[in-house]
Amino acid sequence: MDHATEVSLIERILELDRTRVREEAAGEHREPIEGYLDPARHEAEIAALFRRHPLVLGQAAELPEPGSFVTHDLTGLPILLVRDGEGRFRAYLNVCRHRGARIESELCGAGRRGFVCPYHGWRYGLDGAVTIGDAKGFAGLDPSAHGLVELPSAEAYGLLWVRPTVPEKGESLALDIAGYLGPLASDFAAWGLESTHPDSLTHLPEAIDWKVMVDTFLEDYHFRFVHGKSVHRLYLDDRTVYDRIGPHIRYVIPKRSIRHLVGTDPASWRLREHSNVLYLLFPNTVMVFVGDHAAIFAMFPDGPGRSVMRLSFCLDEEPSGDSRIYWDKQVALIKTALAEDFAVARGVQKNFASGANGHLTFGRYEKGLAYFHQAIAEALAPAE
Ligand code: FES
Ligand SMILES: [Fe+2]
Repeated sequence: MDHATEVSLIERILELDRTRVREEAAGEHREPIEGYLDPARHEAEIAALFRRHPLVLGQAAELPEPGSFVTHDLTGLPILLVRDGEGRFRAYLNVCRHRGARIESELCGAGRRGFVCPYHGWRYGLDGAVTIGDAKGFAGLDPSAHGLVELPSAEAYGLLWVRPTVPEKGESLALDIAGYLGPLASDFAAWGLESTHPDSLTHLPEAIDWKVMVDTFLEDYHFRFVHGKSVHRLYLDDRTVYDRIGPHIRYVIPKRSIRHLVGTDPASWRLREHSNVLYLLFPNTVMVFVGDHAAIFAMFPDGPGRSVMRLSFCLDEEPSGDSRIYWDKQVALIKTALAEDFAVARGVQKNFASGANGHLTFGRYEKGLAYFHQAIAEALAPAE
C-alpha cells in the first residue's frame, strides 16, 4: 500500500473517531438463508467461485527450492504444488495417468527429483513428464500425452495462486493476478510477502458453511461480545473503514493506539502499526496484516454446511528462542479468537434449519458482509 493511501485511511478513521460516528451503508442487506443450506446453490458456488477464480493455495515460501512440494485437497481437486527444476511454481493434479492413483500422499516435503506413483511405479518429473515402468505393455501409448495434468497457476506477491480447473486444450496456463487484484495489486506489491517465512500451518475443519466462516471476519460489531475476554481490548470500537474493490474488500480495523497519531506529522504515519489491515481476496481468502506478521485464513467448502480453514502465518523472520515463545503465544491468542468465532458460528449454522429466519439481516455497520454477498451474487448470476 502506498503511503498516501495509508494516510488517507488513517485520516478517515481519525475523523470517524473525532465525530463519534461509524461508517454506514445506506441500508440493511437481507441475505436469504437458503443460500447457506441449498445443495444446488453449493454446487453452483463450487462451479462459479471455486473453479473459475484464482485461489490462494499457499505461500511461495512453502516451496523454498526446486523439488519442494505441498499437497492441497481443499478445493475438491487433489492438487500437487511443486517448484520445478528451473525454480518455477507449477500446479498439477495429484493423479496418476495410468489408473488414477494418488501420486503424493505427504502434506509437504522437499528435495524431490520427481514423484513415483505407489501403485505401479510410473515416474513423473518435476516438469510433469512421465516415465512408464515396463513400457512394453504400453507400446501404443504416447508418453508425451500422459504427463501430469497441469492447472493454471501463478506465483505472485509471495503467494501461490491456482485456478482449480483442468484447462481446455490450448488454453493458457498463465494467470493474470495483477489484473485479478486490480487496484489492490500495488498494496500486495508493497507488503513484501516474497521475503516472509511461512509458519504454523493448520487445517481447521468445522460444521459451518464456508460463507458463515467468511462472515465472521467481515465486521467488528461482534468484537466486544465474542472477544470481550481476548482481543477486544486492543481495538477501537466500531471505527472500521471498508472499501469494495472489484469483487474484493479492503478494510481496516484500528487499534486504540491510532489515537496517538492525532496532531502528529502524517509523514511518520504507518497504518500497520496502529491497525489490522484486512483483505477479502474473493472468493474465500481473508488476509490480515498486523504489526509483525500477516495471516492467511483461506476457507474452503467441504460439502453443504461444512468447511475447512487453511490457516498459515507469514512472519518477517523465522522465529527461534524467545521469538518462538512469543510467536507461539500469538498463534494461541489468534486460535482462541477463532474458537470464540466458531463456537457462535456453529450455532448459526445449526439454527438455519429452525425456521426462525428466512433471511439474515446485515446492518448498516456490517457493510463488509453486504459487499461479500453482493460479489457472490454477481459471480453466480450468469450461471443461474
Ligand atoms: S496407477 Fe499409477 S502407476 Fe498405475
Ligand atoms: Fe471474530
